[in-house]
Amino acid sequence: MTDQSKSMASRIEQEHADLREVIKEIEKEIQKDPSKEEFTSWKLDFMRRFRDFQNELTKHFDLEEEGGFMEDLVARAPHHARQVDELEHEHEDIAVGLGAIADALKGMNEHTMSGLPAVRQRIREVLEVLHRHEEAERDLIQKAYFQDIGVGD
Ligand SMILES: [Fe+2]
Repeated sequence: MTDQSKSMASRIEQEHADLREVIKEIEKEIQKDPSKEEFTSWKLDFMRRFRDFQNELTKHFDLEEEGGFMEDLVARAPHHARQVDELEHEHEDIAVGLGAIADALKGMNEHTMSGLPAVRQRIREVLEVLHRHEEAERDLIQKAYFQDIGVGD
């Protein structure tokens, strides 16, 4: 494994750790049950955080797809090409899912806040997909760089 691959792998891992912290915050925040009076300010706060998260995640996906491990990994270990392709598609699905949630939240107000549990559930589902996604990436990086015999160095 080259130094470059090693530092890239550890950068990705660091970003995964940072994202896990942000995800924890979002999970905590979405559990709150604002009253009608609190709803607008809660929503504004939550959306601010949520949009920051979307932005961080987009940058993370860009790094993985363009500068990061995906291209390098396929070049080293072409037999993982299909899985890398699936992971890349999943980035798109996750981003679309989060975008739809932001739109749904934006459209809500204190009169339509009965829809909040459904939005909460959608957030949990997308975060669960994201969690499994990053675990899969981590496994793949481990496999391709540290375990595969005959590839890497
Ligand atoms: Fe990732």
